[in-house]
Amino acid sequence: MLRNALLWASTNRYLAQRLPSYGFVKRATRRFMPGETVEDAITEALTLEAHGIRTTFTLLGENVETDEQADAVAEHYLGVLARVREQGLDTEISVKLTQLGLDQDLDGARRRLQRLAQACEPGALVWVDMESSRYVDPTVEVFRAVRAGHANLGLCLQAYLLRTEQDLDDLLELSPAIRLVKGAYQEPAEIAYPRKADVDRNYVRLTEVLLRARAEGGGRPVIATHDPRMIAEAQRIARELELPRQQLEFSMLYGIQSEAQQRLAREGYASRTLIAYGSAWFPWYMRRLAERPANLWFVAKQLLR
Ligand code: FDA
Repeated sequence: MLRNALLWASTNRYLAQRLPSYGFVKRATRRFMPGETVEDAITEALTLEAHGIRTTFTLLGENVETDEQADAVAEHYLGVLARVREQGLDTEISVKLTQLGLDQDLDGARRRLQRLAQACEPGALVWVDMESSRYVDPTVEVFRAVRAGHANLGLCLQAYLLRTEQDLDDLLELSPAIRLVKGAYQEPAEIAYPRKADVDRNYVRLTEVLLRARAEGGGRPVIATHDPRMIAEAQRIARELELPRQQLEFSMLYGIQSEAQQRLAREGYASRTLIAYGSAWFPWYMRRLAERPANLWFVAKQLLR
């Protein structure tokens, strides 16, 4: 129930306007984001890279309301790519298509994504986040359109959706870069597994499909989870396929399971941390609390202070 309440809160505009003005809420977010600016993210990325962990940056925000706002987001990311280059960081970016104007016009979002893919360093990827289920079809459509001209584009797929197995099967012919996650939105039981055990089972099944494709020479699978069981299963499958450790990539969110991330990097697995920054953190932060309502304790501690 608490998870549902937090996911409901994540979509509530009134709360999104009011709650971030309270200092204790803002302070509680520090566990999951180093700061609101890209410079804060860069400082943290330099430290992580020294520990063998690469990074992905994402500017918080979704569902922009005008083309001008979407253009500003694209310009922002172009500036980020330039800053990352200056710093010599192995940092990729991850974008939400509704932040690039998908609600206004699919073609506009496609053009903005294309500009980002063009501006990216060779070898680095622009990742496309997966948002709630109503955006899956247009997201896959835009991904396919841009991917046709730019190989350096990756897509996130969500294991909680019943359709994902088929989506992955259809995409495999592209030898794509796929970031596999469990899924962070509130979805109806007709289209998403309601039980965690079923989501986990599907996650392992899809991991196997991705790693098998990798072993046969295709794509770049990224196992994006904090779940020790999912990580152990991916390691087991990779061992069975004799996949070298550097070809098994794990990705986690900044501030979550940091010790496990460092251990995986030390053991020779490719490791990346996704660092979110920006001022529009409310819906994103509510989704993080929903994943682990025990995190509400951090908010409560800030309030008591
Ligand atoms: P699960 O939620 O089952 O948690 C397993 C364990 O991990 C927990 O028991 C706890 O120990 C730890 N944990 C998980 N979340 C935590 C938290 N918030 N705080 C503290 N501990 C926590 N989703 C989406 O829909 N679209 C997207 O584009 C992305 N992108 C993305 C990128 C990356 C790099 C990651 C890691 C995740 C995403 N997600 C996402 C979010 C994803 O869908 C999912 O909601 C979270 O990763 C939590 O699921 P887990 O796989 O960690 O497992």
